[in-house]
Amino acid sequence: MEQPLAALSGGQRRRVELARILFAGHGTLLLDEPTNHLDADSVAWLRAFLTAHQGGLVLISHDIGLLADTVNRVFHLDPRRAALDVHNTGWAAHLAQREADERRRTRERANAERKAAALHAQADNMRARVATAVVAKNMARRADRMLADLEPVRHTDKVARIRLPEPAACGRTPLGTVGLTKAYGDHPVLTGVDLAVDRGTRLVILGPNGAGKTTLLRLLAGRDTPDSGRVVHGHGLRLGYFAQEHDTLDDTRTVRENLASAAPHLTDGEVRHVLGSFLFTGDDADKRAGVLSGGEKTRLALAGLVHSGANVLLLDEPTNNLDPASRDEVLGAVGTYPGAIVMVTHDEGALEALRPDRVLLLPDADQDIWSDDYLELVALD
Ligand SMILES: Nc1ncnc2c1ncn2[C@@H]1O[C@H](COP(=O)(O)OP(=O)(O)OP(=O)(O)O)[C@@H](O)[C@H]1O
Ligand SMILES: [Mg+2]
Repeated sequence: MEQPLAALSGGQRRRVELARILFAGHGTLLLDEPTNHLDADSVAWLRAFLTAHQGGLVLISHDIGLLADTVNRVFHLDPRRAALDVHNTGWAAHLAQREADERRRTRERANAERKAAALHAQADNMRARVATAVVAKNMARRADRMLADLEPVRHTDKVARIRLPEPAACGRTPLGTVGLTKAYGDHPVLTGVDLAVDRGTRLVILGPNGAGKTTLLRLLAGRDTPDSGRVVHGHGLRLGYFAQEHDTLDDTRTVRENLASAAPHLTDGEVRHVLGSFLFTGDDADKRAGVLSGGEKTRLALAGLVHSGANVLLLDEPTNNLDPASRDEVLGAVGTYPGAIVMVTHDEGALEALRPDRVLLLPDADQDIWSDDYLELVALD
């Protein structure tokens, strides 16, 4: 296919990148989140490819199914202890090992705390007498050292606390389209799409890589113009758009500036607070958005969206790049949000959280009431 890379959909670009790496003939593959943006068929294909791959493989992934199928050693970076745990086992055994280590640390801590408390109590008794005051001091020191040497125990993973604000009031149908049509050159992507997004509706857009999902969302968001037909804005519409490629962020501006421009009504103090609740701490706020990791960009874009007061959210694969803890938080917020949501996703968990009312299937643009049968389209593997 003679198509410039910039013209590819998110998933198509991923596949080109992957193909280049997988078939380059190197023995060892280094893959950083390879399943992001891929549709179910592509993920199934990748899993099979990597399972059969004879050479080495170093994989970073939040896709637990992929990890379970492919790896036989796990390096777990524990941010709380700032330690790298190396387990020479597959994924399931690694999880069991992590649990066991955690239980051991908890037990060791409880023992040490009990002993230290006993030492302190004994030291307190002895301190009063001149003859034993030095011994008492040493005892207290020993108790303190015992506690200081303990490894920290993990209580819960840090997560982004996300609460979507009440949406601004709007009419019955804040967003719609009439005869929306878009082609790239002689390649038609959308043909005569009529859509009505009612207040509070949950609409999910499903379709394989390259079907036109991002194109439709970009048209709805006013980022692109249709060849014919139009997007209809209802009374009081306030749109929030989460882009698949994070192009709603200004890479040259800082984290703080990006949030302040997305949610201009926030005071400086509120901006700091919101950033903190989205896990940006200390110097992070002054980083340029361009240097952020994929997951950090996702969190920053969602932080802006969530505080913009929108009543229709357009979300293009919002769970890509998120670690499991942040993903659960984002999905929890999506599940309780009272405004309308139009979501594109290849993530079954995201659909379960959204509980869609309706589905739009691309490329044919068929519409239907949601039924769980459609989950099969998302998870064919
Ligand atoms: N600027 C462009 N110029 C030419 N073709 C384009 C352009 N943008 C998108 N396309 C093509 O239009 C089709 C739809 O792309 P789109 O990004 O909407 O797909 P998608 O459904 O979002 O896919 P994915 O699941 O991979 O994100 C693809 O075939 C893509 O190659
Ligand atoms: Mg897309």
